[in-house]
Amino acid sequence: MMKNLLLYLSSNRIANKAAKKFGRRLGADRFVAGDTLNQAIDVVKQLNSQGLRVTLDHLGEFVTDPAEADQAADEVIATIDAIAAAKAEANVSLKLTQLGLDLSYDECFKRMKRIVARAVEQNVFVRMDMEDYARNEATIRMYEALDDVYSPHIGIVIQAYLYKAGEDMTRLKQRQPNYRLVKGAYKEATTVAYEHKTDVDENFKQLIFAHLANGHYAAVATHDEAIIQATKEHAKQHHIPVTQFEFQMLYGIRTALQHALVKEGYPVRVYVPYGVDWYGYFMRRMAERPENLTFVLKSMAKK
Ligand code: FDA
Repeated sequence: MMKNLLLYLSSNRIANKAAKKFGRRLGADRFVAGDTLNQAIDVVKQLNSQGLRVTLDHLGEFVTDPAEADQAADEVIATIDAIAAAKAEANVSLKLTQLGLDLSYDECFKRMKRIVARAVEQNVFVRMDMEDYARNEATIRMYEALDDVYSPHIGIVIQAYLYKAGEDMTRLKQRQPNYRLVKGAYKEATTVAYEHKTDVDENFKQLIFAHLANGHYAAVATHDEAIIQATKEHAKQHHIPVTQFEFQMLYGIRTALQHALVKEGYPVRVYVPYGVDWYGYFMRRMAERPENLTFVLKSMAKK
């Protein structure tokens, strides 16, 4: 019930705009590296010095103004340049709706080409986050078109809660894709997505194992210790080297586990978001764990 309400609010454009104007982070600081690229790069350097890799995300989604989408593309390019200049162990993640997917597929594609061309020049990898089901097919289509030209600098995300996740993997298999595999963070209808955690978890494991068996690179993005343990055991049993996969977690979540995995010798990449458009991202983190609300209320009381 609470989860559904939070997910509904996460994609509410009016609330998003109001939050941006309001400016106060409602406890979002725990999950967001700062407002500016400089602040984010400082966090990247700190994490790198602790043996953690990073994927840097300039926050933003559901953009409805072409000028704003152009600006968002410029910001991603600046992020790529800053990563290269800092010689950081980092890549970028982005969302197509930030680059105007809802306005025009073709214009969004042009912005993506501009971004990925720069990423190739700077030898930085670009991950397209996967948004809700309504944008799933357009995102896969754009990934295919970009991968035709810019492989291996571009990657995509597979969401285990979708019934069609396995079919998508089969469709893209010949590209030898670099996937981030996740459970899925949006509110979806039961006609397209598993509803129960046990079903999602089971599908998640099967997708991870199948992708690793294909010999392709897997970023297993989860804070779920049972899934992490199953991946480790599967890799050991099937002699899959640690160069073929990495674990990914979100900035500010399960930090001790991130460090423990690095200590064990596993590659770990932290998803670090920055920027002023924190609302949608933050609300999805609340929905994943409604107990986070208590933390937020406490931090508001302190201000
Ligand atoms: P699960 O929700 O079962 O959580 C396992 C445990 O982790 C919890 O018991 C709790 O301890 C901890 N935990 C999980 N979420 C937490 C939170 N918000 N706050 C505090 N503790 C928390 N989704 C998507 O649809 N498209 C995408 O592109 C991405 N990208 C992405 C990148 C990375 C690096 C990660 C880690 C995740 C995503 N996701 C995503 C989000 C993903 O789909 C999923 O919603 C979250 O990772 C939560 O699911 P878990 O796998 O962590 O398991």
